[in-house]
Amino acid sequence: MSVARGLRLAAVAAVVVAAVVCLAGSARGAFHRQLLVELNPDSSSTPPGGDLLHVRAVGVNDTLHYLFSSQGAPTLLLLHTDSASSTIKVNWTQFLARNTSGGLWVEPEGSLQFSTALVFSRLLEYDDVNNTAEPTSELFPPYDLQNFTWSRLNLSGATPNALLCGGVAHGSLCLQLAVYGDEGRGQSWPRLLHSANSSQLEVRLDNITPRSPQSRFLLELQAVGGAFPRSRVDVRRSIDDEFTPSIFKVSEWVSFANGSSDVLGFVQWKPVAYRQYNPVLEDATPCRHSEPVPGSGESVASSSMLIRAFFAAPHIVGLNVSFGLAGEPFYNSTGFLSWTLLVGVGSPPVDVFSPLVISIMAVGLGTPMILLLLGGVYVSIRRRGGTNAGQAYEPIN
Ligand SMILES: *[C@@H]1O[C@H](CO)[C@@H](O)[C@H](O)[C@H]1NC(C)=O
Ligand SMILES: *[C@@H]1O[C@H](CO)[C@@H](O)[C@H](O)[C@H]1NC(C)=O
Ligand SMILES: *[C@@H]1O[C@H](CO)[C@@H](O)[C@H](O)[C@H]1NC(C)=O
Ligand SMILES: *[C@@H]1O[C@H](CO)[C@@H](O)[C@H](O)[C@H]1NC(C)=O
Ligand SMILES: *[C@@H]1O[C@H](CO)[C@@H](O)[C@H](O)[C@H]1NC(C)=O
Ligand SMILES: *[C@@H]1O[C@H](CO)[C@@H](O)[C@H](O)[C@H]1NC(C)=O
Ligand SMILES: *[C@@H]1O[C@H](CO)[C@@H](O)[C@H](O)[C@H]1NC(C)=O
Ligand SMILES: *[C@@H]1O[C@H](CO)[C@@H](O)[C@H](O)[C@H]1NC(C)=O
Ligand SMILES: *[C@@H]1O[C@H](CO)[C@@H](O)[C@H](O)[C@H]1NC(C)=O
Ligand SMILES: *[C@@H]1O[C@H](CO)[C@@H](O)[C@H](O)[C@H]1NC(C)=O
Repeated sequence: MSVARGLRLAAVAAVVVAAVVCLAGSARGAFHRQLLVELNPDSSSTPPGGDLLHVRAVGVNDTLHYLFSSQGAPTLLLLHTDSASSTIKVNWTQFLARNTSGGLWVEPEGSLQFSTALVFSRLLEYDDVNNTAEPTSELFPPYDLQNFTWSRLNLSGATPNALLCGGVAHGSLCLQLAVYGDEGRGQSWPRLLHSANSSQLEVRLDNITPRSPQSRFLLELQAVGGAFPRSRVDVRRSIDDEFTPSIFKVSEWVSFANGSSDVLGFVQWKPVAYRQYNPVLEDATPCRHSEPVPGSGESVASSSMLIRAFFAAPHIVGLNVSFGLAGEPFYNSTGFLSWTLLVGVGSPPVDVFSPLVISIMAVGLGTPMILLLLGGVYVSIRRRGGTNAGQAYEPIN
């Protein structure tokens, strides 16, 4: 009877804890942005050379402008303004001329608080003959993403969702952008936690014919800022829960202002890629990143029209993400890789234990505690009544 009651109490405690956590979660997620999507702003026709997607994420007193373009190397530009009515203007004559900055700007100009961009510059492939996963001299000529023929943007879904694909060696490199107005989680692994101040990009290398059976890939990224961004990659421990099984880390490439530790913007990912479109645990493959290094503003601006149009003097920091470790299967094992990252302003989202995990812990820790407590009470009652019980039994002995 006491065991049953203990279990019941523990279950009630777990439900209460879970409910509190859910409430806290929804209070945290109450911040919401209204999302407005437009394709090729200020253009009456489809511009040659690729689309420009503009998603406005409007808050109470501020706006996040997401600009995503395949004019040259695929680029996501994120502009934060302190006005709920700021807009983006494009001078297409200038934008398409590709030789001066000023083709894209924010109005009112003084509302701009922070700007950052991420350019997907190159896909590198190397022949890992000795299965060491070290890109050494065995590099094949890189795929320059600015020279790809990109598909038109395919917009779909309730959350603004855009798919951009380019052909590589009989296969494709695709980028799927999802812009969010609320806190939540991505649909598929690694199920990254996002806020209303971040959006997600998934990179997929699908059915590419490798130039060697032992090929592995690297993806080169360039982070762009107006003022010279101080930047570093932090690797934090992450709790393991049901969202990203077996991955205990999260990497955050943060930029912050001089003389301040305030994070202005971030790129966040879990160091894992998946070898199948619908992965199971065995399809997870670790990935690593190189140290960020300063790059050439001019070369990145000439590769991405969005960078050229917006930044007068872009400052660049680049890094490589490599997929697979020594001993892991090569790309040809499945002919597929997907990797997901989050781009946003402010501090990156931090995973907390989910309500499910908390209720499991509450049951797991709470039940023994309550049983111990009840056991203690029972024993002390027995002790107090001990003399009577003893007297009652003695005559029989
Ligand atoms: C928005 O701006 C107004 C006026 O500047 C200010 O009174 C208000 O507190 C701000 N609201 C938020 C949520 O920041
Ligand atoms: C766009 O830029 C071109 C070249 O700088 C300029 O001649 C033209 O007047 C601009 N158009 C608008 C609408 O501002
Ligand atoms: C940019 O290119 C356009 C057309 O190709 C040309 O008319 C213009 O003079 C160029 N501007 C600069 C600054 O080179
Ligand atoms: C692979 O291993 C062989 C034998 O140890 C060595 O000669 C060769 O240089 C290695 N190749 C690479 C790319 O490391
Ligand atoms: C890509 O195009 C640029 C500009 O046309 C050119 O300079 C570069 O060499 C090309 N890259 C490759 C790998 O073909
Ligand atoms: C656009 O994407 C949807 C869903 O991802 C897909 O079903 C559709 O075929 C795509 N359209 C084009 C033109 O690629
Ligand atoms: C998102 O940005 C808004 C406005 O800067 C801020 O008030 C809010 O706390 C941010 N939310 C998160 C989860 O960072
Ligand atoms: C991948 O390449 C290796 C080495 O040549 C080969 O043994 C293996 O069969 C290939 N796997 C697939 C799935 O093609
Ligand atoms: C930050 O500091 C660096 C070197 O100390 C300097 O070159 C740069 O101009 C500074 N940036 C800003 C925005 O103050
Ligand atoms: C990425 O890796 C390639 C090959 O090792 C190297 O040439 C390039 O400089 C790296 N890029 C960055 C930004 O570190």
